Amino acid sequence: MKNIVVFTGAGISAESGLSTFRDSDGLWEKYSVEEICTHEAWERNPQLLVDFYNARRRDTLKAQPNAAHLAIAELQKKIPTTRIITQNVDDLHERAGAINVIHLHGEITKLRSSINETATVSLNGWEQHYGDRHPDGSLLRPYIVFFGEGVPYFTAACDIASTADIMIVVGTSLNVYPAASLLQYVPKKTQIYLIDPGQPAFNPLTPNITHIRKKATEGVPQVVENILNNAAERKL
Ligand code: APR
Repeated sequence: MKNIVVFTGAGISAESGLSTFRDSDGLWEKYSVEEICTHEAWERNPQLLVDFYNARRRDTLKAQPNAAHLAIAELQKKIPTTRIITQNVDDLHERAGAINVIHLHGEITKLRSSINETATVSLNGWEQHYGDRHPDGSLLRPYIVFFGEGVPYFTAACDIASTADIMIVVGTSLNVYPAASLLQYVPKKTQIYLIDPGQPAFNPLTPNITHIRKKATEGVPQVVENILNNAAERKL
C-alpha cells in the first residue's frame, strides 16, 4: 500500500466559511500580524489576543467540514497509510472523521501552558477567560504557534513527508516557513497534486507537481476518486 500524505492550509476550510489569511478578504488584510500573532503581542496585550482567538474559535465551532475534508477522511479510511498534516488550527479534518492529524500551527480548540509548548488542555466551548492557569501553574494562552516561535511537530511532519509516494497539497499559499518547506522533504519521484485556485509559491522546478486550479470542494474529491480508482485496479 502506498503512503499518501495530505498537506493542507486555510484554503481547504474557506468553503466551510473560515477566512484564509492572505487572500484579498483574508484575516491578515483586516488585522495586523504583529499585533495579534507574535509572542510580543501576547506580552503587550494578552486580552486582545484572547478576544481575537475567542472569535476565531466561535467561528470554527459553527463551521462544518466540507466535501474536501470528507473526501480526505474517506481516503484515510480506505488507505489507512494516509497521513494528514495541516497548517490549520481548526478541527474540521477531525470532525470529518480523519485521525492522527498533525497540526503544525496549533489547535484553536485547545489552550496551552505558557512555559511548555506541548502541554495543552482542551477547552469546552468557545471562550477562554484570560487569567485561567494550566495545572503547571503558568498562565494559559491560546494553543497557537505565533510567528517567530518554534514549530514543535515540524520534524515529525518532515519524517512523514519523506515517506510520501503521493502528496496532496490543498489551499495553501506556501508563504509561511518552515511549513512551506515540507515539499522539499518529499522524494523526487513522488507525484504531488496541488489543489488551489490561486498561485501558491511553489518552486516551478519541483519535479512531478501537478497544479489543479480548482477550489478544494471540487478538486480534492476528484483527486481522491482517481487515487482510489487506481488502488482498486491494484495500481497502488
Ligand atoms: N479551495 C482551495 N484553496 C483555496 C480556496 C478554496 N476554496 N480559497 C482560497 N484558497 C487558497 C488561496 O489561493 C491561497 O493559496 O488558499 C490559500 C490560502 O493561503 P493563506 O491565506 O496564506 O493560508 P495558509 O497558506 O494556510 O497560511 C499559512 O499562515 O498566518 C499563518 O498560521 C497561519 O497557518 C497559517 C499560515
